Amino acid sequence: MPRIRITQEFIPEALDEFEGTDIHVDLRDSPVPLGHDELVTDLDGYDAAICLLTDRVDAPLLDANPSLRAVANVAVGFDNIDVRAATERGIVVLNTPDVLTDATADLAFTLILSVARRVPEGDAFLRSGRYRYWRLKQEQLGFDVYGQTLGVFGLGKIGRAVVERARGGFGMQVLYHDRFRLDREQERNLGVEFVEFDDLLARSDFLTIHAPLTEDTHHAIDADAFDKMPDHAVLVNTGRGPIVDEVALVEALQAGRIAGAGLDVFEFEPDVIEGLTNLRERVVLLPHLGSATARTRLRMARLAASGVRDVLQGRRPTNVVNPDVFDRQLGKG
Ligand code: GLV
Repeated sequence: MPRIRITQEFIPEALDEFEGTDIHVDLRDSPVPLGHDELVTDLDGYDAAICLLTDRVDAPLLDANPSLRAVANVAVGFDNIDVRAATERGIVVLNTPDVLTDATADLAFTLILSVARRVPEGDAFLRSGRYRYWRLKQEQLGFDVYGQTLGVFGLGKIGRAVVERARGGFGMQVLYHDRFRLDREQERNLGVEFVEFDDLLARSDFLTIHAPLTEDTHHAIDADAFDKMPDHAVLVNTGRGPIVDEVALVEALQAGRIAGAGLDVFEFEPDVIEGLTNLRERVVLLPHLGSATARTRLRMARLAASGVRDVLQGRRPTNVVNPDVFDRQLGKG
């Protein structure tokens, strides 16, 4: 009987995906991630693992657990998994794309609007009893979003969903930079202009990050980048924290080199450096809520569960990160 370990608390309804199968599921029903050494031993003897982005699945972990045939990350990003090591060892890696695209794009837009219109500041002001008069020079005067220029770093599915919102609802001009340039017709249809990275920095009123975290994108937004951005620019990050050099970000905000930031992810997550939490004007910080709607989280859990189930039953799921391994595994029987 194949055995699956779910490393942290899960959405119970998604366990239906295993009904009627001979798969045995062991749920570690805790919201607290295991330390790396504990995780290594916890996975002993399992055929597959369903893990979260707070679990580091590296080569030593895979070597210590040779029974693993599949690892599913309940997230679209998979920088916490050494996919190359998994591929070399014939282990299928799965993620949860598509189902979270709209929720995450909505949250990126929420941050753009919250920073520009100073929503948390207004809320705190009102609750503190300081709202006495409607004033033309309101304390929370913000920036326009409608008609401004949005820069998108990383034009994958989530980046495109943000573009749809920016173009369709907010009349924005959209620039993008990505490793892969779309063809001209796709650019025209989407209403985006490809620019070099430095131009993206220099021309964006709002810059939103949707690139994956890789060696190439680590600290892509550093002190040099902040120097190139206009001083009214707002940075929004719903991707991965280490794409931004957080110390440089604090310095840029403190020095007024950029005007604001909306962050859902952090370089040292779940820790947030004090310099950031001390900044309240035009700085909005969220606890990694990109995909956090009840419906989306259920869909993510279902996709991870059904993907692992399918791999263990010899069927090809859609959400495989390293599909060639799947073919090899089938070949192996
Ligand atoms: C969340 O950050 C995800 O990658 O799904």
